Amino acid sequence: MQTSFLPFHIPDIGEDEIQAVVETLRSGWLTTGPKVRQFEEDFARYIGCRHAVALNSGTAALHLALEAVGIKAGDEVLVPTLTFAATAAVVLHLQAKPRLVDCRPETLNLDPDQIERAITAKTRAIIPVHISGLPCEMGRILEIAKAHNLRVIEDAAHALPARFQEQRVGTIGDITCFSFYATKTITTGEGGMATTENPEWAERMRIMGLHGISKDAWKRYTAEGSWYYEILSPGYKYNLTDLAAAIGIQQLKKCDQFWQARRRIAALYTEGFQDMPEITTPALAREGQHAWHLYILQLNLERLRISRNEFVELLKQYQIGTSVHFIPLHLHPYYRETFGYRPQDLPQASAAFERIVSLPLYPKMTEAQVQHVISAVREIVRQNRR
Ligand SMILES: Cc1ncc(COP(=O)(O)O)c(C=O)c1O
Repeated sequence: MQTSFLPFHIPDIGEDEIQAVVETLRSGWLTTGPKVRQFEEDFARYIGCRHAVALNSGTAALHLALEAVGIKAGDEVLVPTLTFAATAAVVLHLQAKPRLVDCRPETLNLDPDQIERAITAKTRAIIPVHISGLPCEMGRILEIAKAHNLRVIEDAAHALPARFQEQRVGTIGDITCFSFYATKTITTGEGGMATTENPEWAERMRIMGLHGISKDAWKRYTAEGSWYYEILSPGYKYNLTDLAAAIGIQQLKKCDQFWQARRRIAALYTEGFQDMPEITTPALAREGQHAWHLYILQLNLERLRISRNEFVELLKQYQIGTSVHFIPLHLHPYYRETFGYRPQDLPQASAAFERIVSLPLYPKMTEAQVQHVISAVREIVRQNRR
């Protein structure tokens, strides 16, 4: 029996990470330096991509990726409405316009048919978001992008480690952006990474991530570095610290092991809910690999007497923390008021929002905790079915 509260997420930080941070503190090199370079090399090797640029958040990676491929004021960028604030905010930071796209109800990922409808003469890029770690339909998306000459910047904040068919997410679109926020599949506290095959975009992101100053500016205080630098463009302060990278290097080593644990928990959930028509379990990766960052359950409200909010409250009474991913962007005041979006404009995401709830899913969960969540969900459904 669960006596204490089961949080929605607990990061898995071991002695290896703690030791690595202590060693970095003792090394005297705290900000961007050798650990960041090692983390980038390890990450590029793990993903199988040519370039990996470490940054201080997934949001920074998205912002610099759009800037590197040349998104400018007045351009339009297609963004799924069912995503986190950052995916569209970075488009606005470049004075471009995010055009929101509806999702497929089964996968919650953006719907390629809706992408085609949203393209205008001003569209320059698409940002597919692999919701919960389930890869988007990248074959169709790349075809559409090619036909309309659009750049593809993947928001892979949830998608480490994921595969579309045989290809690792991180090697598919023009640039792929990962997040190492505390709740993500590996964490550096705050952090992010942009991967690409294109050396010019990688270089541009490196430069713009550190004030827009010339190459290897971070070496300024080393023996091989020089005091001299040049400002090439007004850049940002998006560099990752060595302290964070030290954590990331250790976390990356455990990425597959973490994934196995998450995959197992997801499978237990799906098996545990299979006979309940009142709830729909998440879509599986039909071709490829689901990263299982999130386990998003969909409530079939026509079969239940309670709303999603009541369901969340009842789970809280069972000492279980949950979350909702996400409140679609078009339902938020900024997007309603600025662009005039109404709920019916993106009907699938509006409807999905009423039904979705994310259950706890992380490697530190014990078998008993997983079983407790399954029993609680089953009991709540049993007591509240129509
Ligand atoms: C889909 C999605 N995109 C982008 C981000 C932003 O990542 P970060 O918090 O590292 O900036 C997040 C989460 O934080 C996310 O869930």
